[in-house]
Amino acid sequence: MNFLVTAGNPLEMVTQALVVGCCTEPEGELLLDSLNGALDGVPAAMYASKEFFGKVGSMTVIHTLGRLPARRLLLVGLGARGEVTPERVRQAAALAVKSLSGAKVTSAVSLLHRAAPVAGLLEASLEGFYLGAYRYDRYKSKEREESRVEEVTALFAEPDEVTLFSPVAAAVKSRCDAVRMARDLVTAPGNVATPSFLADKALEIGGAYGISCSVLRQEELAHLGMGALLAVGQGSHNPPCMVVMEYRGAGESSRPVALVGKGITFDTGGISLKPGANMELMKHDMAGAAAVLGALQAAASLKLPMNLVGIVPLAENMPDGKAYKPGDLITTLSGQTVEINNTDAEGRLILCDALTYVQRFDPVAIIDLATLTGACVVALGHNATGIMGSDSQLVAALVRAGEVTGERLWELPLWDEYGELMKSDIADLKNAGGPSAGTISAGWFLKQFVGSCPWAHLDIAGTAWEDKGRHYLPKGATGVGVRLLIAYLQEVAQGQET
Ligand code: BES
Ligand code: MN
Ligand code: ZN
Repeated sequence: MNFLVTAGNPLEMVTQALVVGCCTEPEGELLLDSLNGALDGVPAAMYASKEFFGKVGSMTVIHTLGRLPARRLLLVGLGARGEVTPERVRQAAALAVKSLSGAKVTSAVSLLHRAAPVAGLLEASLEGFYLGAYRYDRYKSKEREESRVEEVTALFAEPDEVTLFSPVAAAVKSRCDAVRMARDLVTAPGNVATPSFLADKALEIGGAYGISCSVLRQEELAHLGMGALLAVGQGSHNPPCMVVMEYRGAGESSRPVALVGKGITFDTGGISLKPGANMELMKHDMAGAAAVLGALQAAASLKLPMNLVGIVPLAENMPDGKAYKPGDLITTLSGQTVEINNTDAEGRLILCDALTYVQRFDPVAIIDLATLTGACVVALGHNATGIMGSDSQLVAALVRAGEVTGERLWELPLWDEYGELMKSDIADLKNAGGPSAGTISAGWFLKQFVGSCPWAHLDIAGTAWEDKGRHYLPKGATGVGVRLLIAYLQEVAQGQET
């Protein structure tokens, strides 16, 4: 999808569709008044009959039949003017784009960003159009040829605004391309998106965006002593590996922010086998890895003035004659020993070695993202990512970024007492706690591997996959984390400048 930014009179725009955001108070709305004039009072009649009166989530289409140069008018509800938020506009744009593609419209002019005097509405509307229009049709023979919305023009009143907002539209495009890339990787079937496939993808992104990228293969992992990552991968014919990416947008001396993503390309549970129902969804157990790759791509494309390190441990968790098993003892890269009591608690194992490894970059902060626990879905459902951490400022900054992007976070405690759950009789730690506080005990486990570096852990088990499809999150992979991390990193970059 391409974004254009122009200035002009909505009543003079020649387009297949004009998308207008409408609030529940039509009084004094110049645009609505002039549309009423051109359309013989049809919009006003709809407000009067309450068929359409700007309610959140509502929409109506009016064919103009030559009364306006625009072929159709899409009126999209945004609720009370004083309550319009970027998230509402994001959702409204997604609703509009679904209707446009249903009508085989390929390009449209949007005024959604002008519905209320609120900052960030242009970004929000373009995000909603582009992310809402996403579909994964790589393996669909017929749907691939169907028409799609290819171009959205954001219309402003003044030429000055075009200069001001054109770079904003370009930045939205960079971010959303990265979200869509992440969605593609997460949705890709497990027999396609293997550890080596994702490593190749990282190398490809590195080459395309000027990010240095190397892949540690099985022998190097063994040489380093990454016993936890190797143990998880040892039951699969697709060998484990680890991606190490370095983006340099600032001088050598500037310490990097580190991003670490869980990359289990398929989670059967291993010898502690998962039940069969819905097991196919466990192809998305690499959504943390995809978010890290997406964030690095977007950061490089936006030329963020900072240094970043991305670490992505990759493995497939399979039951096999050679697989690791309950009761096994493994030695992690940190030297700490772990007794395995459940091979399905594999995410924390591949992450703990990655968290130890990343220390060698002396990062200012470490953020990890992982589809880590089913317990997080029980606790927070699908509307919030769980966050835990060792640094309240880092956690607060991420929570703020969640509000800005609509990728909301909710903090859980990591008190020392939770460590009781992870005590082993024979080793420093065991890898799975009991049935209580499953998300926290996993977070507590990870905390044992981050040293004194400020660290935050994001459990995206409930937010990485959308079962039904809602607004700008079509059914399937959400790409959660990419926009969130970029919003956070932009705030960090701004803080460094001042
Ligand atoms: N990948 C799963 C967690 C998960 C569940 C992600 C549902 C997305 C949706 C993880 O590896 C796992 O199996 N966790 C176990 C941990 C338990 C054995 C301590 C779980 O949550 O049951
Ligand atoms: Mn598991
Ligand atoms: Zn898993």
